[in-house]
Amino acid sequence: MGTSVDAPAVVAEEVTDNMLGGKKVTVVFVLGGPGSGKGTQCTNIVEHFGFTHLSAGDLLRAEIKSGSENGTMIETMIKEGKIVPSEVTIKLLQEAMIKSENDKFLIDGFPRNEENRSAFENVTKISPAFVLFFDCTEEEMEKRLLGRNQGRVDDNIETIRKRFKVFVESSLPVIEYYSSKDKVKKIDAAKPIPEVFEDVTAIFAPYAPKV
Ligand code: C5P
Ligand code: MG
Repeated sequence: MGTSVDAPAVVAEEVTDNMLGGKKVTVVFVLGGPGSGKGTQCTNIVEHFGFTHLSAGDLLRAEIKSGSENGTMIETMIKEGKIVPSEVTIKLLQEAMIKSENDKFLIDGFPRNEENRSAFENVTKISPAFVLFFDCTEEEMEKRLLGRNQGRVDDNIETIRKRFKVFVESSLPVIEYYSSKDKVKKIDAAKPIPEVFEDVTAIFAPYAPKV
């Protein structure tokens, strides 16, 4: 009544087949604020559950070191705590997954914003099995970042504040999006590393290697 445009009868389904380079892949997104322990726990998950860990931040930092044409742009973005355009990050993730002999991936620190999220699904046709969310207070994350001494250009108080702001404004909405799809497994990441890993282990139990 009163509408002149025909609405489509069916809303388009998400087109995801999770195929990449001739293999069917399982992807888990690992999200959480800077300093929430994503990298640390991913190392544990790799060891116990046979996943390959792909850190978007590490891939971007490697790209700077390799002297690629995007290096200067990426470095500027990281120093400012800003999010690098999706096409750059997605290409790095895609290449790493294709090159790997594994078919189970932890993608850490991605998607960081709505553009990351939608571009990844559109380009790769991959949707995550679930999203592991490390929930931690800013106070605790700040303490960890200032104490970790990895020589990173963005672990200074000024950039840390910017990264927190980007996390709240751009990354939390991504977590809310996946929450609405019942895909988020949230973990209290303020606890000590072994206790966090106990919670992680419970979540990954279905992926334990069969013996
Ligand atoms: O995850 P990590 O803390 O290592 O990321 C460091 C920086 O890398 C981010 O603050 C951001 O500048 C950049 N990055 C990005 N897009 C991503 C992941 C990281 O631009 N998806
Ligand atoms: Mg990290």
